Amino acid sequence: MALIFQGRKNATPPGPPNGLIGRDHYRRIRCDLLEFSRSLIHDYGDCVTYRIGPMRFFQLSHPEQISELLIRNAESLRKLTMVKWFFKRWMGNGLLLNEGQPWQQQRRKVRWAMQRLDEQKQAEMVVWQTRELLDKHANTQVDITALLDRLAFYFNVRTLLGDDADDVLEPIYAAANVLHATGIRELTSWGFTPDWAPTTTKRQMRAALHAYRGTLMKLAAKRRQSPSHDEDRDLLAWMIVAKDVQGKTEGMSDLQACDESVNLLMGGKETVSATLIWASYLLATHPCEQARAAEEVHRVVGDRDVALSDLDHLPFTQCVVQEAMRLYPPVYMIAREVARPITIGGYRAPRGTQIHVPVHAIHRDARWFERPDEFVPERFCPELNKRRPPYTFIPFGVGPRNCVGKKIGYEQCMLVLATLLKYYLMHLAPKQGVPTLSTDIVLHPRDPLHLVIEARCPALAMSYDETGLERDLPR
Ligand code: HEM
Repeated sequence: MALIFQGRKNATPPGPPNGLIGRDHYRRIRCDLLEFSRSLIHDYGDCVTYRIGPMRFFQLSHPEQISELLIRNAESLRKLTMVKWFFKRWMGNGLLLNEGQPWQQQRRKVRWAMQRLDEQKQAEMVVWQTRELLDKHANTQVDITALLDRLAFYFNVRTLLGDDADDVLEPIYAAANVLHATGIRELTSWGFTPDWAPTTTKRQMRAALHAYRGTLMKLAAKRRQSPSHDEDRDLLAWMIVAKDVQGKTEGMSDLQACDESVNLLMGGKETVSATLIWASYLLATHPCEQARAAEEVHRVVGDRDVALSDLDHLPFTQCVVQEAMRLYPPVYMIAREVARPITIGGYRAPRGTQIHVPVHAIHRDARWFERPDEFVPERFCPELNKRRPPYTFIPFGVGPRNCVGKKIGYEQCMLVLATLLKYYLMHLAPKQGVPTLSTDIVLHPRDPLHLVIEARCPALAMSYDETGLERDLPR
């Protein structure tokens, strides 16, 4: 046994032939990355290797390999050098790209600051903001991707900047969108243009970066100069005075607080909106599940607005959010680079190996999820949930670098979805087809996704019966 294991240690995992410098792999990834990952598992198993040019890739998809990689070997890994190089000018030394001791210290401070937020107040803001934006669109056909993207960004800016948010919401939303669009264009194009180049794209990018980071730096300085009372502090103000958990290190510099702010806005915007977009789409295309969730919300919430304390009493709505994250995980792939050689699944991964954990493919693996491509929210009920091995449902990542905004993000998704279910009926717009997936940054629909958001009659409440038929009954 020991001999077999030792033999395997030096072997290479199975994988597709690399042909001419892996050109075919590159073409398939560009064409459909999700399909490429699934086909590797189907054809070669849970640990697969392939090459593109000088780069060696490993794909790991077994839950035991995932914990071995992201927990036991976490210290031998780093974020991808190329991604760091590309995003550094935008995100600085924030949590998403930072490494080692400085990352650990920053992570403790960010968590400390997040724990100081008034959850109740945050939840009220989320519900109020959702109603304000959605009421404007009641009984119309809307592009739900644009609407929910804006909504998620607003929450994050309000959490970060409190009362200052109103003055800066629109300009920094516009700047974030420019950075996002130009960033994707650059990341997916051949060749490299230096940042100082006098091209339109670069000019737009420099202006957006200046507006975005400049605003956050100014607001960080404002909080340092005139500190507010604890009860009035927003996330940025808490970060400026943050301690790590041992209470040792004090505060963040304005620059560090600005970097972390950019990272939190970036980490929270796309992920929360993608979860909500997919959950709304799934409910719009599954009227029985929509009716059942709406009945649950009406029964628990009654006449008032949704509150934080309701979330624990909405088990079916929770199942819907989790099932949306299973079918369409916003972070559809976790990527790392090997900083120090490791052995994984019995195979040796040399320094520089790029390791992919294909979250989307794992979430749709029939070994862990029956009828994996179908929308079945009940699979997340506690009894069934318990039977599944750990690390088979990983929308928030695994190990020390898991999502730092997991609680905030999940609660935002639940509050918005419950509010949507309480006040609106969602249908697919008449000419809306099945959305095509896009994998740039997060998993989201490639084109606008149109739904009709129909206001529920205030005097009527929806009821769900076992046949799955909807009836309108007086409240
Ligand atoms: C449904 C919502 C969300 C999902 C699905 C999600 C998913 C994830 C995942 C999978 C990771 C780990 C990535 C990796 O291992 O490479 C991550 C990291 C991170 N997320 Fe989230 N996220 C969500 C919401 C948020 C929110 C609301 C915030 C900010 C308030 C946030 C901020 C971050 C940051 C800063 C990191 C980097 C953490 C570190 O490396 O220490 N996320 N997220």
